[in-house]
Amino acid sequence: MCGIVCYVGSKPAKPILLEGLKQLEYRGYDSSGLAIHDGTHIECHREVGKIAELERKLNNMDIKGSIGIAHTRWATHGEPTEENAHPHRDQDGNVFVIHNGIIENYHSLKKRLEKEGITFRSETDTEVLAHLIGLNFDGSLSEAVRKTMSQVIGTFGIAVIHRQSPGEIVVARRGSPLIIGVSEDGHFAASDVAAMVRYTNKVVHLQDNELATLTVKDFSMSTAQAKPIERSAETVEWRAEDADLNGFPHFMLKEIYEQPETIKNAMRGRLETGEGVPKLGGIMPVWDKLKDSRHMVIVACGTSYYAGCVGRYVFEKLTEIDVEVELASEFRYRKLNFAPNTFVIAISQSGETADTLAAIREAKRKGAGLLGIVNVVGSSISRDTDAGVYNHAGPEIGVASTKIFTSQLTVLNLLAILLGRHQKLSLTEGVEAIRALEALPDQVANVLSQANHIQAIAEKYYKCDNWLYLGRKYNYPIAMEGALKLKEVSYIHAEGYPAGEMKHGPIALINPDMPTVAIAPRDEIYEKMLSNIQEVKSRRGPVIAIATQGDERIREVADDVIEIPQTLSFLNPILAVVPCQLLSYYCASFLNRDIDKPRNLAKSVTVE
Ligand code: AGP
Repeated sequence: MCGIVCYVGSKPAKPILLEGLKQLEYRGYDSSGLAIHDGTHIECHREVGKIAELERKLNNMDIKGSIGIAHTRWATHGEPTEENAHPHRDQDGNVFVIHNGIIENYHSLKKRLEKEGITFRSETDTEVLAHLIGLNFDGSLSEAVRKTMSQVIGTFGIAVIHRQSPGEIVVARRGSPLIIGVSEDGHFAASDVAAMVRYTNKVVHLQDNELATLTVKDFSMSTAQAKPIERSAETVEWRAEDADLNGFPHFMLKEIYEQPETIKNAMRGRLETGEGVPKLGGIMPVWDKLKDSRHMVIVACGTSYYAGCVGRYVFEKLTEIDVEVELASEFRYRKLNFAPNTFVIAISQSGETADTLAAIREAKRKGAGLLGIVNVVGSSISRDTDAGVYNHAGPEIGVASTKIFTSQLTVLNLLAILLGRHQKLSLTEGVEAIRALEALPDQVANVLSQANHIQAIAEKYYKCDNWLYLGRKYNYPIAMEGALKLKEVSYIHAEGYPAGEMKHGPIALINPDMPTVAIAPRDEIYEKMLSNIQEVKSRRGPVIAIATQGDERIREVADDVIEIPQTLSFLNPILAVVPCQLLSYYCASFLNRDIDKPRNLAKSVTVE
């Protein structure tokens, strides 16, 4: 959730680290700091608030040195104060450490260290790492870090510099992502490619229980047991311009508008229209077992979970597979008992979500096959699954997930059509589904062309404190996702409900100040949705309907209508979510919210 960026090279470290921190700001952002080694001394500065605050503080400071570590923090232990911000140092001010993750035995370690005379300056778990590394240092920083790794329990991605080791940065990982960047004039380490993509696209992924020493010229890697590792660099697809706004006021809006392209990218090279069969090379390693599987469990968190909920209905429609969907945070603690040849599908934008990772590790232990639907290439979930499908949607910077959600839905449809064609779908049905998928990018562009109309609707209702989202079947998860999006970026309270459940409780809330967003495209349960809309109207609740183009009946009951093009009913969610995203965006914008960095949220939730 926090962000790490480090640089050792021939250029001044300060601007590179600040730039890297800005790119990471979306991961977590209540405080930040950096430490730079000038060959003799280490200068460390920390500040509460956004990176801009740290930048202001450092503005007129001439900080020499081309080796440094920097961190943006999302508080777990201790409030967001300057004392709790990273880097943390040891007693003598020799060691400086930045850390993502949680040291679970920090309390007992802290007590022991205090008894040994160490005075703690912060309330963080991280500070124990600094003291331990300081005490373990015997001339070799990597050995001090290695020894410390054996003393701590918990998760970490750490980067360390030592006053007496001026030419190097040591990084280590257990459970929190860390990537090494290789460039012409030095080396980087970061928790996320975004921090270094301006300087290099050559990366090496550090894996759990590994550490690396970075110098200007070289880097070396080894295991926690000191076994050397040789791993060559991979080239990542992300481009520097992916991290730019390109004229949009916010990344969220830019990413909403990228969806015609990202949906296309999820399908690129994967469609054999004539055969009505998608090609998914990434699942071939498990294909023989997968094609005969009749049981699947989708695990995910947040927006990715809602994608999984849509996926369940799609699999039910197109395949003979029984699909359950579980929140990873619950699934990981269940007593699991899988039917033979069950596959667990992890869906994750970041590929690093702690609960989803833990859920698949538990599923593996109990004998399930593992698939991943992941955007970040080389991420932990992509490595820990047996096979999978990448989204290829490029970086998503806005904390609220938008383009990855529609990309996840696209990939789930491809997987369901592929399996369905081997189980029950005819050639005609396969071709029809693929043709409908191919039409989606233009149809999403059509929805986007109504942005002004949607903005006007947002203007009408953004002052309402409570919203209800209703949907049925494929669009019930879209009601939940729509409500989540509104909460996340505008801080308006919203509930997503299956429309059939409204009468069983939430109807009590309906009043003229509570808008209901009713997702009611022309599909098999359209009439039912229409009745639910009538029920809201009878209680004088305003209704914003998301309906199929040309639907005149709905205009007679709803106060406002947003049209989506006609498609197959199981593809409606991909179109219906776009107006929900725009509504949330514009409400947040009218309320002057910090849209790309909503309060308390982090892009990648790497703690439980
Ligand atoms: C989405 O808008 C959220 N920020 C959040 O719910 C997110 O989808 C969730 O944390 C899962 O993340 P993942 O896809 O990276 O696993």
